[in-house]
Amino acid sequence: MRILVIGASGFIGRYVMRRLSASGDHEVAGTYGSQSPANDGNAWWQVELADTDAIERLFQQAQPQAVVHLAAIADIGAAERDPDRATAVNVAATSAISRLCEQHGAHLIFVSTECVFDGERGFYREDETPRPTTHYGRTKWEAEQEVVWEAASWSIVRTSIVYGWPHPGKGNFAPSLIDNLRNGRPYHAPTDVLRTPVYVEHLVDGIARLVEVGHTGIQHVAGRDWVSMHEFAAAIAEAFGLDASLVRPMDADDRARAGASARPDRLGLDCRETMRRLNLEHPGLADGIAALRADAPGP
Ligand SMILES: NC(=O)c1ccc[n+]([C@@H]2O[C@H](COP(=O)([O-])OP(=O)(O)OC[C@H]3O[C@@H](n4cnc5c(N)ncnc54)[C@H](OP(=O)(O)O)[C@@H]3O)[C@@H](O)[C@H]2O)c1
Repeated sequence: MRILVIGASGFIGRYVMRRLSASGDHEVAGTYGSQSPANDGNAWWQVELADTDAIERLFQQAQPQAVVHLAAIADIGAAERDPDRATAVNVAATSAISRLCEQHGAHLIFVSTECVFDGERGFYREDETPRPTTHYGRTKWEAEQEVVWEAASWSIVRTSIVYGWPHPGKGNFAPSLIDNLRNGRPYHAPTDVLRTPVYVEHLVDGIARLVEVGHTGIQHVAGRDWVSMHEFAAAIAEAFGLDASLVRPMDADDRARAGASARPDRLGLDCRETMRRLNLEHPGLADGIAALRADAPGP
């Protein structure tokens, strides 16, 4: 199958590219915006997603049969600071990609986020109604609707906080936390911010399965355990043999005093239906952190 990975130079995209090309069964091409990728034997296209003509040319050249679309302004702060750009990249480009998938008869797998939900209750099912509260969440929810309207064959994969080893020079929650603790610096982690963290390779298991089976509809692919960021950080500290007492609990009052939003922040995804449907194992936090340790880059 000819597979096009849009946003392949990003944190998750690099893992998706590696997995899909490893099997040797597919012809895999990836896109990047500003980060020129490694010469890894795959075809790479530089594409600015705010340019709809460029996206059309991309489809003409790549002639994909399946598309995994991960490209986005994925940082909540960046989307708030430049909302017009976030709308252009996250919504308008997704609309164009969906329409082109329809025209080319390609199945579209669009990667979305738990931030489409309002964070009042948490542990949301696939069939619950989104009500985003941030600009980033709104753009991803609008993009989901573009996918549903424009593409003929689609899967939307919502996920929660994704952790793993990023490309050198890039950040991620888990390695930043480990670095802090190794250097004896305390880490303040909220006890009332809830997520279902997922190790990046476990998210890629779900995406790769969808490429193979083309299962349509909304899918929730995240970790099995619904935990606070404090529990998440403490579990990483313990698994890496670091001083867990440096992981300091922080509640809503502490967050308000620190100038952060004190509104409810209970996200996280109930993935049981998707895991059953895709016949996937559902790794928990301990499994994910064990895999993170096993995959740690050498010194
Ligand atoms: N990471 C998480 O915890 C998480 C959680 C939930 C959902 N998601 C979703 O997963 C997807 C991937 O996230 P990620 O963490 O891998 O993000 P990331 O590391 O920031 O990667 C974003 C990708 O989008 C590309 N991109 C951004 N703006 C572009 C533009 N204007 N033109 C062309 N390409 C552009 C980037 O290209 P360059 O870097 O080459 O410019 C990169 O390939 C996103 O859709 C995000 O909403 C992520």
